Amino acid sequence: MRKNRVRGGQTEFSILTVDDDEIMTLTLQSYFQAAGFHVDAENDPVAAVERIREQHYDILLLDFLMRPICGSEVVSRVRQFDKDIYIILLTGHKSMAPPIKTIRELDIQGYYEKSDRFDQLELLVESCVKSIRQMRVIRNYRDSLRKMLDGIPRFYSIQTREDAADLMMENLADYMGDAEYFVYLESDGMGEAHGPVYRGSGLFAAEQNRVSAYFEESGKAEGKLILQDGLMIAPLADESQSCYGIMGIRPVNNIRSETAQLFEVYAKQAGAAVGNMLLRSQLDGQNQKLRNAYTAIHENYMGMIDALRLMVDAKDIYTRGHSDRVSAYACMIARAMGKSEEYIKRIKVAGIFHDIGKIGVDDSILKKDSSLTDEEYAKVKRHCEEGKRILSVMAAFQNITDIVLCHHERYDGNGYPTRRKGEEIPEEARIISVADAFDAMTSKRTYRSELTLDEAAAELLRGKGGQFDPKIVDVFLNILEHYDEIKEELKWTYPEFKPES
Ligand SMILES: [Fe+2]
Repeated sequence: MRKNRVRGGQTEFSILTVDDDEIMTLTLQSYFQAAGFHVDAENDPVAAVERIREQHYDILLLDFLMRPICGSEVVSRVRQFDKDIYIILLTGHKSMAPPIKTIRELDIQGYYEKSDRFDQLELLVESCVKSIRQMRVIRNYRDSLRKMLDGIPRFYSIQTREDAADLMMENLADYMGDAEYFVYLESDGMGEAHGPVYRGSGLFAAEQNRVSAYFEESGKAEGKLILQDGLMIAPLADESQSCYGIMGIRPVNNIRSETAQLFEVYAKQAGAAVGNMLLRSQLDGQNQKLRNAYTAIHENYMGMIDALRLMVDAKDIYTRGHSDRVSAYACMIARAMGKSEEYIKRIKVAGIFHDIGKIGVDDSILKKDSSLTDEEYAKVKRHCEEGKRILSVMAAFQNITDIVLCHHERYDGNGYPTRRKGEEIPEEARIISVADAFDAMTSKRTYRSELTLDEAAAELLRGKGGQFDPKIVDVFLNILEHYDEIKEELKWTYPEFKPES
């Protein structure tokens, strides 16, 4: 017996020997026990099946000819619930061996012709042990891989690089077994508070400087695993393959290939998950900066536009408050037409800024109390295009430039500046046109006194289908049934209004 070869190290493997010949089972038991295996003996084949069901065995040494059931029947029953056990059939004589077909079908790993010497059997058992060892490694690898991949989604809820490094350390301890580890994430380039993050276990705890040197080296390895001095280093890269850190492991025993593979898979998966998290948070930070800048620009511009608007109103005491009232009337019409809040907001802003282009018209023309020359009138008419030009500069006003451009168009196509007609004119501009005309008529001008409500209403009716969209005139005339209340509501827009203190 080659005790030296098999003795020791086999206690992790268990054998069940089954034979109705008690001497045979006892002999095999003592032989393989001496080789270091855990060995049980069973003489009843039916009881043997139950034993295997209840207890784990790695190898079954099974006699072929037995009563009440033969070896092949035992195998077929066992295979119903245990596909992993290695089975070696023992036969009394070559001629008594089961056909090769049966051996294949029942997944029997070998058969042995009984003799006084067990060398051949021992060789068979040794080859089983090798296979079982390999199977265990594969199974461990598979289980670890599954566990590892199942754990990756945890990274999606992580917010900081420190949390990411902690979770990686926790995972390494969990998946990679006995070893020392480190995780190094480089500075994210977003200021002092965002310097490198380092975590290390065992001897690595105090080796941050050495590790940051490894990080520099890993750049030369082009994303591959580095193996040196019993240490494995894997790059951590996001999905664009940009490397932002490394992780390392030094196993207590020699580095096995499956350990290296597991480590590499983990570094790739966790690396991509954390890399995406980092990209996302950097992007969020940049977006927030952009939003703040945009808000500041928007506020400045609104302030500037507001100042311009007040300047337009201030140019002529008689038109003061006009833009606010036009905006208010236009909103009332839009609301009565059942328009959306977005539409109402748009028409409110367009109403406020409809005459912004007048900023470019000379005071001498705007304040003239006699009638305008053709040339002067042409200059006043330019305020529509000028208004569009001023508002076009700002993205926030893109949706009202056309309304401002068209607020002097006429429904019959005889307006200016584009001479569009009917539905070609934006509806909001048609609404503002009615509101604008009504407020002009009911306000005092240098060259005439204001019209009464009835006179203004009569003018609107006269303009139906000519200057104005008839539907909109009808809607507005309905609203004007409550003119007294509306005037009270808008009193703040009149020059003589003084807020109560
Ligand atoms: Fe105008």
